[in-house]
Amino acid sequence: MSFVTRRKSIDGLADHAPHHRLKPTLSWPHLTALGVGAIIGTGIYTLTGVGAGLAGPAVILSFAIAGAVCACAALAYAEMATLMPVAGSAYTYSYAALGELVAWIVGWSLILEYTVVCSVVSVGWAAYAVGVLEQAGVHLPAALAAGPHAGGIVNLPAVLVALAVTGLLLAGTRESATVNFVLVIVKIAALAAFVVLTLPAFEAGNFQPFAPFGFAGHEDADGVKRGVMAAAALIFFAFYGFDAISTAAEEARNPARDLTIGIIGSMVVCTTIYMVVAAAALGASPFQVFSQSAEPLAFILRDLNHPLAAALVAGAAIVALPTVIMVFMFGQSRIFFAMARDGVLPAGLAKVGARGVPVPVTLLTGAIAAVIAGLLPLKEIAELANAGTLLAFVATAVCMMVLRRTDPDRPRAFRCPQPWIVGPLAVAGCIYLFVSLPQATMVRFFIWNLIGVAVYMAYGRRTSRLARA
Ligand code: ALA
Repeated sequence: MSFVTRRKSIDGLADHAPHHRLKPTLSWPHLTALGVGAIIGTGIYTLTGVGAGLAGPAVILSFAIAGAVCACAALAYAEMATLMPVAGSAYTYSYAALGELVAWIVGWSLILEYTVVCSVVSVGWAAYAVGVLEQAGVHLPAALAAGPHAGGIVNLPAVLVALAVTGLLLAGTRESATVNFVLVIVKIAALAAFVVLTLPAFEAGNFQPFAPFGFAGHEDADGVKRGVMAAAALIFFAFYGFDAISTAAEEARNPARDLTIGIIGSMVVCTTIYMVVAAAALGASPFQVFSQSAEPLAFILRDLNHPLAAALVAGAAIVALPTVIMVFMFGQSRIFFAMARDGVLPAGLAKVGARGVPVPVTLLTGAIAAVIAGLLPLKEIAELANAGTLLAFVATAVCMMVLRRTDPDRPRAFRCPQPWIVGPLAVAGCIYLFVSLPQATMVRFFIWNLIGVAVYMAYGRRTSRLARA
């Protein structure tokens, strides 16, 4: 069978040698926490400011648009993750529904997404960490606080946090999920405190004019793409993470129940929290002011004369943002694991160590994420991560629809409601977000995938388990 069309059978998905299988140790509270832990991060803590700079107060609308697209994608994910509760997420779904070549491209995009998300969140974390250190009178040399794009040499705090999380993951899945659970609570408490303290300062006038940069994304004379959609394409970053739960599908105790609650539940919880936090931030401070800050939530609180609360919110971000890195590194290791198990990446990467963790790939991801975090600017890497994610979301929605046609009778523990409305909406919404990204991001993403196809032609096409079957 041609490498373009060869597919994995859904029946054979769980059929792997024991040393290539992950242990089912997670249930829905862990998975929901994993989702919330992955979703609430640098998106709300940092990119809210950048997004407001691109859309003005209408960034609220950007949040709503990105959230609606993600909600459609989440429904498709829930159906696919319960239909195929094995590691690999959109890569595995594509392998079964769309063939090996498409699956490879999706997997290659996921590798980009997961690695770069770890870097983005590390950079967001570093801004809050440096802010707190400054408040405490500790000044990091400028050369070690930012990458070359901002006049420094390396963003050292970002590198250190990426490496620290790698170490934590190597300590074992279960321990990491429990730590995650506690930190999620800290993160939500900090956002709740932010809302409570900023609401008394709410100024309706801050919302005028509502959309100073218009709706459609357009590049201004300074080369920056602005507008509600340009902000939505960036803010989209704040919403994903629920897809990382599906990468843990193989480790769920009761996949049908645990994954459905985990994916849909974490999505609903986070979207609600975001809308409230963004409205509170915009009401408390003119967007022109807080959009300039690398740590906008702490900045607004300081501006309102709540220095202690600012320190506590920053502290919570510092303690809790690593959960996001953790979940994405965890997801990344599972994507690699699934691809290596299928023979399209070297088998050595799929080796699971004594603690149930794929050690080589976790180390590799951590190292690459640390380098990117140390050297590259936040907005650009966030947009690149979004491009990879958008492709994975499109693929998942397409897989959901294709399998409804080609395999309609297979029992589905969760059925996406109105699949012929939700599926096309997810695809169209993701494509609109993709074309709203800056052109440079699209070019980088395209180059990444060209490299991916070259790697596949040179390696995976021949080494795939299906090619050898
Ligand atoms: N949604 C995650 C964040 O905002 C990736 O950090």
